[in-house]
Amino acid sequence: MSAKILDGKLIAQQMRAEIKQGVDELKPRGVTPGLGVLLVGDNPASRSYVTAKEKACAEAGMYSEEIRLPATATKEEILAVVRGFNANPKIHGILVQLPLPDSKMEQAVIEAIDPAKDVDGFHPVSVGKMMLGLPTYLPCTPHGILHILKRSGYSTDGAHVVVVGRSNIVGRPLVNMLSLKNALGNATVTMCHTRTKDVGLHTRQADIIIAAAGKPKTITADMVREGAVVIDVGVNRVNDPATKTGYRLVGDVDYGPVAEKAAAITPVPGGVGPMTITMLLFNTLESARRTVGA
Ligand code: GUN
Repeated sequence: MSAKILDGKLIAQQMRAEIKQGVDELKPRGVTPGLGVLLVGDNPASRSYVTAKEKACAEAGMYSEEIRLPATATKEEILAVVRGFNANPKIHGILVQLPLPDSKMEQAVIEAIDPAKDVDGFHPVSVGKMMLGLPTYLPCTPHGILHILKRSGYSTDGAHVVVVGRSNIVGRPLVNMLSLKNALGNATVTMCHTRTKDVGLHTRQADIIIAAAGKPKTITADMVREGAVVIDVGVNRVNDPATKTGYRLVGDVDYGPVAEKAAAITPVPGGVGPMTITMLLFNTLESARRTVGA
């Protein structure tokens, strides 16, 4: 079997066109959805994510405001920016780019965000609501993955989904969302992580494998059942002197051999990545709609 490639870039483009239409419909009511972005420090990957987020906002007709602080910024300086965004009626969604240079500050900063503007879905109130299946902002990467599956015609209903990775940003919310009794859930879910004894034992039983471990070749062909659907969340830089930058991006899946066995697979880049920003726009539009009861 040679896998169908699940084109996240194309699905993201379709969803962004729908979001733009939603933004255009809101503007005559006097509301332009706005995103406030805070970048602390100079991490090159974070800088390029933030630039991509602002470009995507502009393309969707949204307003965005970026504040940059040096890596030496104090917790109080960071909290002051978050409070400013909380109080600013032009801002409907707040994004503090993670990781922060001082990871010990992260939880306090996340908890300072007004849950009504928590378009990342990282605030404990948002996480609790997500777990209970109550209306809230769903975290962008897991939500994007569920939309790739749905829009590609792969239902999670009754499927055995094996999630590899237990991060707060991807693995753990995914397991929760997949277990809910709704159109994007209804799955039987297994979670594997670094202490799982035999990851392959579980993944070989999966209808859908979601690799979010942050390590190249976490999923090799021998770990995949013939005909499974494979979603690769990994974005790993590996050295490659043949490229201009000296590196290339690979996922967590051993792509070539796994694509020979899978029914469908997301590429890296161009799979899950473009969906994350799309779902951020989706949540920001939703937040702006709520301010006018739309
Ligand atoms: N860093 C990596 N992914 C994310 C994300 O989804 N949101 C934020 N704020 N930071 C990130």
